[in-house]
Amino acid sequence: MLEVRIADPVTFVIFGASGDLTRRKLLPALYTLFAESALPEKFAIVGFARRDYDSHSFCALVEDALRNHSRTAVDEPLIKAFCSHLSYHCGDLSDAAAYAGLQARFETGDLPANRLFYLSIAPDLIGRTVDSLSRAGLITAPHSKVWTRVVVEKPFGRDLPSAKNLNGVLLDHLDETQIYRIDHYLGKETVQNILSFRFANTLFEPVFNRTYVDHIQITAAETVGMEGERGAFYDQTGVLRDMVVNHLFQLLCLVTMEPPDGLEASSVRNEKVKILRALRLAETAEHHPAACFGQYGDGDGTKAFRAEKRVDPQSKTATFAALRMEINNWRWAGVPIYLRTGKRLAKKTTEIAIQFKTPPLALFQHVACQGDVCDVTGVKPNTLIFRIQPDEGIFLQVSAKRPSMQMVVESVRMDFSYSGKWNRVLPEAYERLLLDALRGDSTLFTRSDEVEAEWAVIDPILAGAAASGEPFSYDPGSWGPPEADAILFSNVWKNE
Ligand code: BG6
Repeated sequence: MLEVRIADPVTFVIFGASGDLTRRKLLPALYTLFAESALPEKFAIVGFARRDYDSHSFCALVEDALRNHSRTAVDEPLIKAFCSHLSYHCGDLSDAAAYAGLQARFETGDLPANRLFYLSIAPDLIGRTVDSLSRAGLITAPHSKVWTRVVVEKPFGRDLPSAKNLNGVLLDHLDETQIYRIDHYLGKETVQNILSFRFANTLFEPVFNRTYVDHIQITAAETVGMEGERGAFYDQTGVLRDMVVNHLFQLLCLVTMEPPDGLEASSVRNEKVKILRALRLAETAEHHPAACFGQYGDGDGTKAFRAEKRVDPQSKTATFAALRMEINNWRWAGVPIYLRTGKRLAKKTTEIAIQFKTPPLALFQHVACQGDVCDVTGVKPNTLIFRIQPDEGIFLQVSAKRPSMQMVVESVRMDFSYSGKWNRVLPEAYERLLLDALRGDSTLFTRSDEVEAEWAVIDPILAGAAASGEPFSYDPGSWGPPEADAILFSNVWKNE
């Protein structure tokens, strides 16, 4: 059971109500919040889309989505109760009358007055939609009694100029406090735990710096390719815009930022922005490139990216990236930060590994063993791993003496796993984020200067990728193109 219940009556309007994200994430999250009594007593969900549904057929779509994607059991009375809060508003995003119709429903009191507009629509439609909402009088003034919040899905722009432009349009009609730019990685339980782990313990923070850390690796590997209709979007987007500029950069910020002076949104975001401003692709010698891009070829029963539905057969879009980054500040200067992500890789895993330096004195490196226990000797560096998913947990690799008559040291792991400690399913990222948006907490959302700072880092990397021509091909089920190994001076990728 969630410990919070929203008090304010609210109307949750989903633009792009018939889309994939609505089915897979938004509706299941709202349903779980409803089942756990976290939504206010008076709430309405309005689906806004062009397709020809009425409230009845929209409810059938919702039920179908929940049966396929909800982590909360779908039972008849609950679904019926949930559907009693739903309605459908058929309209085209470019049609002023559709917005006027919505506004009329607020005016007549048909819908609770506080409003959250969730824009799950193509990025190029966001600016115009906010403009139309404003013209129809649907956006209330900041800090007024009746509140308006707008949640914007990623990608937020395509580059720095378009992100600035989009911020400009949004800020013409809304105050920053009314805008919630979503990055669902920030809603993941384990991602939120990075801050508490770092700043609620005395043990780790003193060694989180260039004196003790050898390097950091952040991996977000996926086994999926272009399921459904995703190819068209992805071919235009590519791995840097889809995963690196947002999800990976956010993980990097949380693990490297300075302690904030409080936990409120502005303090946390200020610290993240400082990291982003100091972040850049590492400068490396010519034969050690700092970036490598790949595209998956075909495999046993899986198509090559170029053969996927709605992908250009000549596409040069990268589906894999390996980057060596560095943070040019006092704490991290000179510490390589390796980022790696891709589709169709060997397994689904997201983790951050902080590898510490080896002890200054190699006391245990050359122990001569005798008898039958001389297979393992030597001290491996300590590694702290934040396992974001799956098997969520935090692990620390340390060296310990193996029980024997000799001094044989081997690596052992100290584990904290969520499943071992708490016998409950972790909340979905969208549940947490929707709840936060409904209660007006923007800590886990991205601020305008933060998004712009992210693009400022990625733009030159995008330009470098475009200039380097075709990405390297890699086998599905592998760890990316072999050429990515040249990014690294050690075999840090290959420790799986
Ligand atoms: C999305 C990307 O933001 O994150 C997808 O657009 C990616 O391409 C997804 O598959 C990964 O999210 P998760 O939560 O499954 O790691």
